[in-house]
Amino acid sequence: MRAVQVTDGIWWAGAIDWSLRDFHGFETPKGTTYNAYLVVGESGIALVDTVKKPFVAELLSRVSTVVDPAKVTHIVVNHVEPDHNGGLPEVMAAMPQARVVASPSGVRGVADYHDGLVVEAVKPGDTIDLGGKTLHFLPQPMVHWPDSMFTYCPEAKTLMPNDAFGQHVSSEERFADEYGLDGAIHELGIYYANILLPLGTQVAKAVDKVAEAGWQPETIAPSHGLIWRGETIAPMLAAYARWTSGAKVDKAVVAFSTMWGSTEALAHRVAEGIGATGVDVEMHDLAITPLAHVVSDLLEAKALVLGSPTLHHGMLYRVAGFLQYVAGLKPTGRLAATFGSYGWSKGAEKQMRERLEEIGFEMPFEDLLVKFRPTSEDLASAEAWGREIGEAVKARD
Ligand code: FEO
Repeated sequence: MRAVQVTDGIWWAGAIDWSLRDFHGFETPKGTTYNAYLVVGESGIALVDTVKKPFVAELLSRVSTVVDPAKVTHIVVNHVEPDHNGGLPEVMAAMPQARVVASPSGVRGVADYHDGLVVEAVKPGDTIDLGGKTLHFLPQPMVHWPDSMFTYCPEAKTLMPNDAFGQHVSSEERFADEYGLDGAIHELGIYYANILLPLGTQVAKAVDKVAEAGWQPETIAPSHGLIWRGETIAPMLAAYARWTSGAKVDKAVVAFSTMWGSTEALAHRVAEGIGATGVDVEMHDLAITPLAHVVSDLLEAKALVLGSPTLHHGMLYRVAGFLQYVAGLKPTGRLAATFGSYGWSKGAEKQMRERLEEIGFEMPFEDLLVKFRPTSEDLASAEAWGREIGEAVKARD
């Protein structure tokens, strides 16, 4: 397995996890990569980040195509989550002379994860001189954990920001321009929605801190997925600026689960009503679409329209699970509405409404309910209800 040159003196030497389909509950149908970077100077060699424990041999194999691992002088731990730090002890064993550094919070995290393993703290202003290549550091708390840190090599104008700007994509392409910009931005949005959405304020600050530090990267090399360089950087940063600002478009997500098709029939007519107002609609059966993709569609949407029939006096478990997933991502500034069918007892609508309001959705609409099967009049009402939602979406900034 080979390393791939990123810029002058910097090499990708990570691992490709082609088979990953679940990243702590985030469905990853395209797998992921654990990116690690070798920075090769005249007097020192640094490895920025390691990989998930089962992938250490792959990392070492790639490193060996550039340098003898035993000659690595520094290891930088940008983040202690196990997908980057899990293999650290084994990598250290193969790089016995390496000084290992992390943010102050990262130092505590490494010790917690690895039985008291002691590494050194670095702070803003500290540098590591590798001879013609230096490393600079910025702690970036909560992008994605308290310990998260960005590392920058000014001579190569390369930023290694760990989880920020990442995507869960496994591919033979290492660069966004090789993969295709539109596809890369699409994957970036899925990752942002499912990992960073609740941390938008911290992510925006992180981007500001990079500018304030005078860092002007021409390559942005995250710890997952594709590397951004050249003309792919500006549109990627523009997408991040939109998402961190909370900007939305005239779009609604209709998500539902169904028992015997009544709630599904309502969903289709509601979507027709919304669409008739000129608002984009994304339709998801929660029994089929990965939650990660529903959430991704919600990223720039102004409304969530959620449907469940009543079962045992409450909502279907898939809808409850979806709401629990959404709650953790703390979406703000969106409308919501609920619909569904019932037989002899209502209840789903009450549970959905309570949970949606608790999460922070605004709910100005009446619930749309039908008994057993929607009649043609019920379906006409569903379409009218959808139009009402569509007009409200358009009227919203
Ligand atoms: Fe890729 Fe927060 O770990």
